Amino acid sequence: MEIIIQPTYAQLVAVSAEIIRDALLKKPNLVLGLATGSTPIGLYEALARMHKTDGLDFSKVTTFNLDEYVGIPPNHPYSYHTFMETYFFNAVNIPPENCHIPQSTAVGHEGFCERYEAAIVNAGGIDIQVLGVGKDGHIGFNEPSSSLGSRTRIKTLTQSTLEANAPHFGGTVEAVPKMAITMGVGTIMEAKQCLLLASGVSKAEAIAHAVEGPITAEVPASVLQMHPRTIAVIDDGAASQLKRVDYYKQVYANKQKLLSQEH
Ligand code: F6R
Repeated sequence: MEIIIQPTYAQLVAVSAEIIRDALLKKPNLVLGLATGSTPIGLYEALARMHKTDGLDFSKVTTFNLDEYVGIPPNHPYSYHTFMETYFFNAVNIPPENCHIPQSTAVGHEGFCERYEAAIVNAGGIDIQVLGVGKDGHIGFNEPSSSLGSRTRIKTLTQSTLEANAPHFGGTVEAVPKMAITMGVGTIMEAKQCLLLASGVSKAEAIAHAVEGPITAEVPASVLQMHPRTIAVIDDGAASQLKRVDYYKQVYANKQKLLSQEH
């Protein structure tokens, strides 16, 4: 796993937005896997600015979101449909028919999950999967103990995730939907590249386990150690429990030096 440590969230955002911009310039019909939550908001805002001010073109892009709560309508103010429209889709020119988000109902979910997986394959697979990480190490809504080979399905959320998401639902855990449809860990691992983002000391333990701990279903993000092309872009807070910070910084500095010599 490539670890890029930046001093601040703003710098984390700048680096990750550049990674996506460069990929999009190389492949205009990029297939993006997208996450919600507070971490990628700055990334979406940065990409929206690149669209508005530099004309970065998203017209051939296809997107697949990781997850959606079960049991709230897509137009619910805290659904991930609403989140994506607010922070990204309304601000760039991705054709609406190219934007895919799991449906928020449990009715017929098995068929839906199979079709969602097939749609990803039909689109040519995900080129870059944006990921956040839960304090408990989840990616998507694959909570600890999720099969590392799992596919898109319904998962029950842990107490830790319910508490983390309560502020979005009026501050009460009771109001948070208890289940979500999520891409599986196996689905995520099929993305050609993963871009894992984490900010702040509250994510430090999860990042330390994911990057330097054993690969285990107890920390679903740890499976990314097996992914051939994962870049983790994290800030100093999220990096604060890593053992090899100096080494990761040295690796990144050397890579930048090599790249500047090539250009
Ligand atoms: C949401 C998702 C989750 C979040 C994770 C971190 O689509 O996939 O795994 O990425 O819960 O959330 P934040 O960024 O709010 O800390």
